[in-house]
Amino acid sequence: MTKDLKVNFLGTELINPFVLASAPPTKDYETIKKAFEAGWAGAVTKSVVSSPLKDKQPRIGHIKYKGKVLASQNYEMGSVYTPEQWADWAVKLTKEFPDRMLYASIFADANPDGWKYLAEYFLGTGIQGLELNFSCPHSDHNGKGSIIGQNPDLCASLTEAVKKTVGEELKIMPKLTYLSHPNEGLVSRMCIEAGADAIAGINTIAGLCEINPYNLKPRLNTGGKTTAGGLSYHMIRPFGRLVISRVADAIDWKKHPISAMGGVSKDIGSIVDYLSLGANHLQVCTEVMNNGFNVIDEMKKNLLDYLNETGRTLDNLRGKALPYVTVWNNLDETDRVARISWDDCVLCEECISYCQYDAIQYNKEDLSINENCNGCGSCYSVCPTNAITMVKKD
Ligand SMILES: Cc1cc2nc3c(=O)[nH]c(=O)nc-3n(C[C@H](O)[C@H](O)[C@H](O)COP(=O)(O)O)c2cc1C
Repeated sequence: MTKDLKVNFLGTELINPFVLASAPPTKDYETIKKAFEAGWAGAVTKSVVSSPLKDKQPRIGHIKYKGKVLASQNYEMGSVYTPEQWADWAVKLTKEFPDRMLYASIFADANPDGWKYLAEYFLGTGIQGLELNFSCPHSDHNGKGSIIGQNPDLCASLTEAVKKTVGEELKIMPKLTYLSHPNEGLVSRMCIEAGADAIAGINTIAGLCEINPYNLKPRLNTGGKTTAGGLSYHMIRPFGRLVISRVADAIDWKKHPISAMGGVSKDIGSIVDYLSLGANHLQVCTEVMNNGFNVIDEMKKNLLDYLNETGRTLDNLRGKALPYVTVWNNLDETDRVARISWDDCVLCEECISYCQYDAIQYNKEDLSINENCNGCGSCYSVCPTNAITMVKKD
């Protein structure tokens, strides 16, 4: 059966659920054009600012484990191109690619005038909407980004100011920061009440790069010194999942769709995670920075294979994991213990080192779980063959 990957996002039909996030893969006209030609359904421009800053060189690094990039880190600022330039490119792109979604990301400080000034540039350009960058984690010293995203009242008042400026011509989508936790639900609800049409999130999360243990210099440094940089890619997916699930809980996501990002890759788990937690579609950044635009082919194939295999459609996948997410107080109180299935156990002993309660004994060819088992679940989670299950205590 051929499954349909089309998605309706606020009246715009996306040809698939994969959109490029605001970042180097959307840094200028040529790059976005190349992405659309490769099959991306949409793009959010690199954040447009009123006075572009010079980028630091270098500014992007990677955190690897056993040769695999787990996270990337950067302290890149907004676009180096002017709003005038972006407005011209927006006109060209929307004419050349009328079937794609194009949003401009705008990025200013706590003064609403800066947001209104940027928003006005995009009126009449043909783009569908604006993403409001309330979330860059390394612009706080400029009074921008996540320092705004942590303040629900400020997010709401800036959203309202932009909405008043663009009226019904452009959709408005504030982009949230993980750093608003545990207020992500409140921020998103207040933005919607202030006129936002959709919610996006998450941006990168601030961290400090690794220190080289031999020369004690930061691995990512510019002329010897480093600074706070935003982490992206696989490592931030748990944070993204949390924010998206909380936003989905706080707003009517069928009416005000969620554009989710943070570690979306060609791994089917990352795609299903967000859709099943209520996302309308996905934004992708680091996967493309590290593997190129053509990764879209694998992403589409992996999603189609998954839908065919499970018999699901995008509509009956969206939000279906939400009933399984709740607050701690609502979790079940049944006493449980671990049980080993001997058919599946390969005697790797991994569970023994993960047990905090001395509950697992090993006698040459047998593992057994004793009455010390406290039901914590650590062994069950680490078992490579799923030989351990958690069962109701007798
Ligand atoms: C080098 C780099 C530059 C970025 N620049 C912006 C930006 O200008 N505006 C913005 O809202 N987000 C920016 N981001 C954040 C991404 O849009 C995205 O939210 C984040 O990387 C998480 O997605 P990912 O894990 O798929 O990379 C940037 C990310 C990277 C890695």
